[in-house]
Amino acid sequence: MPRRKGRASLVSPSLDGAEAAPLFRQLYNELRGAILSGRLRPGERLPASRALAEELGISRNTALAAIEQLTSEGYLAARPGSGTYVADNLPDLGAPASRARQNGRGQVKARIPAPEIPPRGARLLDVAGYRPENPSGKYWPCFAPGLTDHSDFPFPLWARLLARAWRYPKAELVAGGDPGGYPPLRQAIADYLRQARGIDCAADDILIVSGIRQAIDLTCRLLLEPGDPVWIERPGFPGLGAAIAAGGGRLVHVAVDDEGLDLADGLKQAPRARLACVAPSHQYPLGVVMSLKRRLDLLAWAREARAWILEDDYDSEFRYAGRPLAALRSLDADGRVIYVGTLSKLLFPSLRIGYLVAPPSLAQAFRRARAIVDDQPAMGVQPALAQFFADGHLAAHVRRMRKRYAHRQALLLAAAAHHFGDRIRLEPDAAGLHLVGQNRLKGRSDAAISAELREAGLTVSPLSAYDVGPVQGNGPKRQGLMFGYAAVPEAMIEPGIAAIARVLKL
Ligand SMILES: Cc1ncc(COP(=O)(O)O)c(C=O)c1O
Repeated sequence: MPRRKGRASLVSPSLDGAEAAPLFRQLYNELRGAILSGRLRPGERLPASRALAEELGISRNTALAAIEQLTSEGYLAARPGSGTYVADNLPDLGAPASRARQNGRGQVKARIPAPEIPPRGARLLDVAGYRPENPSGKYWPCFAPGLTDHSDFPFPLWARLLARAWRYPKAELVAGGDPGGYPPLRQAIADYLRQARGIDCAADDILIVSGIRQAIDLTCRLLLEPGDPVWIERPGFPGLGAAIAAGGGRLVHVAVDDEGLDLADGLKQAPRARLACVAPSHQYPLGVVMSLKRRLDLLAWAREARAWILEDDYDSEFRYAGRPLAALRSLDADGRVIYVGTLSKLLFPSLRIGYLVAPPSLAQAFRRARAIVDDQPAMGVQPALAQFFADGHLAAHVRRMRKRYAHRQALLLAAAAHHFGDRIRLEPDAAGLHLVGQNRLKGRSDAAISAELREAGLTVSPLSAYDVGPVQGNGPKRQGLMFGYAAVPEAMIEPGIAAIARVLKL
């Protein structure tokens, strides 16, 4: 490396005494950025620390501290009796113009071309967005689907349970080690599922996961070959499609009729599907309850095709009339159903806790797969949750929320009947957190209506956005307007509906 003579051409760095980062750190960042971007080349000499300090109006100790740090990291090298140089064993990073820019903090922002995403990743990213797009509209949360109300969650109690578990934690809590999750929580969930969903399972069949999507991911990794066909409901929750595509499955969008997943459509499209994902208790987003005949037919298909069924039981706790139907899993005599549930809706979404109930024949394989992929679920909240279940707080919370949501649905129906009349028809639903309104406005698509409302600060999702998949073969996309009501305070429901009627000039 040729030795360059003379003073390095430091474009005077601008240090700011008002910035949160100390002056030494700012100078360090500036010099490091200049070296990495090629503005200071290998072998160039730095000004003496005294001169640098004078030029920048900082103390000499500050300048020395930055220089020493860069020297110890190998960016600079001191030559006794001669001064400090940019290390000359660094590769020549070239002229600044061809390299990179620096942001205000001296960090290098290289012009890196967008990375090439291979087809599998592209399929994952291709799934339509499913989060409400307008989380701060004027009328928020009117009427974003999928949201729940956490204002009444007993957080002080929750904090006490967390503290109690962790103040003097037992050794097994700290060490962890069970890939299925905290055993008392798995037992509490097994007890709950037996009582509430008619599912007879052992705690050992249960895996604590970070939500239904992680359960699907594990299922795909364990049970599918890349490209294996997977039936998913159309319309459906796009997050499931994303998880399956990410897990290597090939999505086969199967129609839903008023008995649930249309088995004949699935058989026509992909009779040898390896997995069928269904929400038989309350299809999302249509709310259909799968008929008993369809359940038995689906189980018979799985038995004969040696396929698996993933039962998504995401919101069955919110049933307002009649008894909840027992889970599909409770009819499964052949061990073909993988049952998954979540606490995202029941408690609060950032909890990120769900559960997978494996058929006994697969329980050990799921535990091993979980251990390989991710060791075990984080232990942080599991003991508090186990206590929350065991002490009956979960049941009390569900009862409270059920009452509240049923009331909100009634208010929504009354307001819609009053302001919309027959132009947007809402029917009661015995379960769930939203209603799908029939759009009878001539010449206005659900997507156009939703966009118009969004402009006014109102979130009403178009059903067509959940109807993903090829249009050919399955007919046109379904039309409808989704009104989430669970998270909307009572006092906002009627004014929200009135505002919609005004915006749409109904
Ligand atoms: C039908 C359906 N299934 C699954 C999920 C995902 O649950 P989780 O948050 O546990 O991944 C949702 C979330 O909204 C959903 O609506």
